[in-house]
Amino acid sequence: MDQQHIRNFSIIAHIDHGKSTLADRLLEITGTIEARKMREQVLDNMDLERERGITIKSHAIRMRHVAADGAEYVLNLIDTPGHVDFNYEVSRALSACEGAILVVDAAQGIQAQTVANAYLAIEAGLTIIPVLNKIDLPQADCDRHAAEVANLLSCEPRDVLRVSAKTGLGTPELLEEIIRRIPAPSGNVAAPLRALVFDAAHDSYQGAVVYVRVFDGELRDGDPLRFFAQPEHRHDADQVGILQLGYIPTGHLAAGEVGYITAHLKDIHEARVGDTVSNADEPAAEALPGFRAIKPMVFSGLYPADSDRYGDLRTALDKLRLNDASLSFVPERSLALGFGFRCGFLGLLHLEIVRERLAREFNQPIVATVPNVEYEVTMNDGTVRTIDNPADVPPRGQYQSIAEPYVRAHIVCPTDAVGTVMTLSTGKRGSYLNTEYVAGDRARLIFDFPLAEIIFDFYDRLKSVTRGYGSLDYDYLEYRVSALERLEIRLAGETVDALSAVVHRDAAYRIGRRMCEVLKELIPRQQFEVVIQAALGGGKPIARESIKPLRKDVIAKLYGGDVTRKRKLLEKQKAGKRRMKRVGRVDVPPEAFLAVLKIGE
Ligand code: GTP
Repeated sequence: MDQQHIRNFSIIAHIDHGKSTLADRLLEITGTIEARKMREQVLDNMDLERERGITIKSHAIRMRHVAADGAEYVLNLIDTPGHVDFNYEVSRALSACEGAILVVDAAQGIQAQTVANAYLAIEAGLTIIPVLNKIDLPQADCDRHAAEVANLLSCEPRDVLRVSAKTGLGTPELLEEIIRRIPAPSGNVAAPLRALVFDAAHDSYQGAVVYVRVFDGELRDGDPLRFFAQPEHRHDADQVGILQLGYIPTGHLAAGEVGYITAHLKDIHEARVGDTVSNADEPAAEALPGFRAIKPMVFSGLYPADSDRYGDLRTALDKLRLNDASLSFVPERSLALGFGFRCGFLGLLHLEIVRERLAREFNQPIVATVPNVEYEVTMNDGTVRTIDNPADVPPRGQYQSIAEPYVRAHIVCPTDAVGTVMTLSTGKRGSYLNTEYVAGDRARLIFDFPLAEIIFDFYDRLKSVTRGYGSLDYDYLEYRVSALERLEIRLAGETVDALSAVVHRDAAYRIGRRMCEVLKELIPRQQFEVVIQAALGGGKPIARESIKPLRKDVIAKLYGGDVTRKRKLLEKQKAGKRRMKRVGRVDVPPEAFLAVLKIGE
């Protein structure tokens, strides 16, 4: 394949601006997919992706197109996930391309992820083709938004294409522009092999399938391979081919091309996104730039609701991990919840996806603890401990300081909402840095936030104070020392490890008090009085509530009637008990372990 006739590109957009729909149109007009096989959003092949309309994993697909100049071109579309949790994957997918189509909704204009993605593409040195989509909508305001986009990218408004991915209007012209504007790859076929891993998937027959973009050299079936991040291992390429809604073996890939490799890899963790593949016998001197080991940012304990099913939960997580390289988990034991796993996620959406997939694919009800971030605790002797479970934070007096991860957040909102966004953000311990005006009536605010403050409800609150117009994007920054302390909850005198939280000293009293109130509502009355207490840093209680005892005999008031009525009541009571977790003498319903999430209500 002559590199002059290859174009590698990606489509980037803010969520719901029409990325997948546009991809569908391109696949359709290039005849890549027969009309009868065409279904909406073919690239989103996981059920969950379809339902939630979000792209979780990246995919790639090869199209052929005879352009106006009469030549046939190969177009590789590399799809990217559309959420901040997956920023690193997006950046790797982008660096596998020479160009990107930046899709902007013609009714909504620029949003936070439009800006964030545009910057990622600019950083990767890509040629950007700006496109206004949904021009069929009556509320589309093309001239205004074209001017904004031109301003963002420092180009002319007339360079901004106008399409409707829904009706197909303008999409043939877009194909021509992809060929005209995006540069052909310019790798050196004679140089040693260098291919970028931009994704990997698990296939039950072939094991791990590694998705690559070849930058230099060539790759054939049987070639000895070496991954730069794991130089000690050598693998033989079993099968090499291209991606076209499935794997099509070609036996050969050369500089400029996009395709897949299978190499009897045990699992996808051996092929890390961002790594470089080279030939083991004739290795390249240097890896391609930008590799970073991904690090989980949000942690939560997952426990089987039925403690006998611990083994099943492990099997389920193992299976999920086959396809999800960023999911990590280690066994953990909680006094309250029994045996389970401490799991690490890229962000809150990732956590939700994993929980839903567990529930759906493995029919496994689970109890989850409140998500938290990872803390760096500097002990009195100067050693630093990394702690991902709030219950493990030592008592006050044993450590010098606690540091927490900070992120730099970009918030795009209408200018008239700047005041309320400021109030919301400073209430979440955000430190304000800067405001820029991205477009006529849009402002972009920059804040540094403790990650812990924005992982719960920040996004929802932002949406509500901006009437849906606000959008958020953030990037990990660094660890910073904060005045944090462990808040623990005691039920009938017993500390409930799974309810521990790490809180800022300024908010500790309020949170402690609310926790007790919320738990009082969630925990049913028992045969004895249950005292709920909140304490800070292992010290004296700072808040207290109590739940009155039940009347001794539940069936005492059921005089008369037949015996089945009594039996029914007792059965109902027993069934209610079964779903409870036993903490000391107290029966606690699973939802109580998420009580912290309710304290804002
Ligand atoms: P994520 O996968 O969540 O990032 O979303 P996306 O950017 O892929 O958006 P998607 O293609 O799922 O489109 C979002 C919604 O907009 C869907 O309901 C589409 O039917 C609709 N849509 C996409 N393109 C157009 C268009 O040109 N006109 C109109 N009227 N609706 C469109």
